[in-house]
Amino acid sequence: MRDLLAALAELRERLQEIPQADERRLHDLKTEILGRKAGALTQILGRVPTLDPSSRKEVGAAANALKLEFAAAIAARERELKRAAGSVAGLDLTMPGRAVWRGGLHLVTQVVDEICDIFRELGFTRAVGPEAETERYNFFALNFPKDHPALDAQDSFYLGDDLLLRTHTSPVQIRTLERYPPPIRVVIPGQVYRRDPFDASHSPVFEQIEGLAVDEGISFVDFKATLATFARRFFTADTRVRFRPSFFPFTEPSAEMDVQCQICKGVGCATCKQTGWMEILGSGMVHPAVLENCGVSSERYSGFAWGMGPARIAMTRHGIADIRLFYESDVRFLAQFAGGVR
Ligand code: DAH
Repeated sequence: MRDLLAALAELRERLQEIPQADERRLHDLKTEILGRKAGALTQILGRVPTLDPSSRKEVGAAANALKLEFAAAIAARERELKRAAGSVAGLDLTMPGRAVWRGGLHLVTQVVDEICDIFRELGFTRAVGPEAETERYNFFALNFPKDHPALDAQDSFYLGDDLLLRTHTSPVQIRTLERYPPPIRVVIPGQVYRRDPFDASHSPVFEQIEGLAVDEGISFVDFKATLATFARRFFTADTRVRFRPSFFPFTEPSAEMDVQCQICKGVGCATCKQTGWMEILGSGMVHPAVLENCGVSSERYSGFAWGMGPARIAMTRHGIADIRLFYESDVRFLAQFAGGVR
């Protein structure tokens, strides 16, 4: 009994170590004194039942009291250390976490998807083609004359003698006609390249969507109805459209389609230069020579085609004044249109 009381007195001295202990030392002290098996106090308490009844009470009470003192001192020191860790210079544990960036679809990609979805409902499949093309696909099979100014290196990016970055998505019309027999209904999104200045309304690389429908008995009525239906689904059901005569080597007759200006609803504003209309695509009935160049009988088949610029269309819809915003990757601009993650 005496030795146990002496041991307790000695242990009590060690209470003084606690307020100075760092985290690691505190952990060691806790094990050393209160540890469930080898802890010094635990062992003393373990011996209490073996004492004769007269000393059991005294030693037991002293040991239990000391155990509570240790537990309280250790808990107090633990709290102190935790608080100190929170106020380490430059560390604010109450600061909210950083937002995790979620990827979003570029506005032009969203518009491309939306346009292709509308045409899918109208029976069109999505197709793609290469960005580097030969002159035959980019020009000649499309009925461009040999001396057409677009062939000039001023307008196109040539990669070699007979290899250039496509200046439009129309060459994929040729690839489709060569490969698949009619009936054909495709939409073809893709990047195209031109030696244009990079200014508010031009970019040397931009997106186009080509469309092609070839079958027996396709008429100008099918052509107008399909594109007018598209415009009403993409913009609003009461959007007015108009077709103006135009010229493209690969269509006859050719037309440009305008939609009612989406900003002023046709009244006239700065965006539509007071006309009330905005041009959104070039189009026409597929020229018989184009069908014949691909081995498709122009006696039996006819069709229509169009090409449009989804960036321009996105600008029309959202009143965006400068096309360069789409190609400068400024997140402050893009995040306004952050669409679904793909
Ligand atoms: N390829 C023309 C361009 O880039 C757009 C175009 C006009 C495509 C009429 C067509 C079309 O398919 O029929 O300016």
